Amino acid sequence: MSKRKILKYGSEVLRRNSTPVTKFDKRLKKIIDDMLETMYAAHGVGLAAPQIGINQRIVVIDAEYGSDRYDESGKSTGRKNPRNPLILINPEITEMEGELESYEGCLSFPDVYFNVTRAKKIKFKFNNIKGQEEEMEADGDLFCRCVQHEIDHLNGQLFVDIADDRIIAREELDKNGFANIDSQPLA
Ligand code: NI
Repeated sequence: MSKRKILKYGSEVLRRNSTPVTKFDKRLKKIIDDMLETMYAAHGVGLAAPQIGINQRIVVIDAEYGSDRYDESGKSTGRKNPRNPLILINPEITEMEGELESYEGCLSFPDVYFNVTRAKKIKFKFNNIKGQEEEMEADGDLFCRCVQHEIDHLNGQLFVDIADDRIIAREELDKNGFANIDSQPLA
C-alpha cells in the first residue's frame, strides 16, 4: 500500500466524469489499498478515486472509524470504533427522499466547511471488490451524506456546487486560498 497525494480543488481531474470499472483484478485491489491508506492518513471519512488522480468509479468510506463506541443503553464504552471500510465500485443511487442539511467538508478543500443539503434517505447499488452487485440503504447520518458526496465526485461534481449559501461558501473558499467558486464539471 502507498499513500497518494490528494488533489486539491482547481485540479482538472476533479471535474472529469469517471469511467466505470470493468476489470476486478489485482490492479483494482491496489488502487483500493492506496485509497484506504490515503483516506486514513488524512483522517477522512470518505475518498473518491479522482481525488488521487484516477478517473474511475471507485469510492472508499469509513464514517465510523475512530468515533466513540456506545453500548446498548447509549453509554460510551470508552473505546473507539475500529477500521471498517466500505468499498463502492460503480455506485449508483437508486432512490432518494427527504432532506438532510449539515455542515460538510472535503479532503480536496482543506479547512473549508459550509452547509449542504442532501437527501435524508437513500438506496444505492454498487459492485463489491469481486464484481458482485450489492444494494444498501442509508438514512439520516454521516454515512448517508458521505455516500452522496463521494458519488458526486465520480461525476465531477463537488460540494461547492450545491452549497446552501453561495456567499458563505465563496467566503470560506477565499479565506483558504481557493479563488474560483464558479468552476463546473467537464462534459
Ligand atoms: Ni470530497
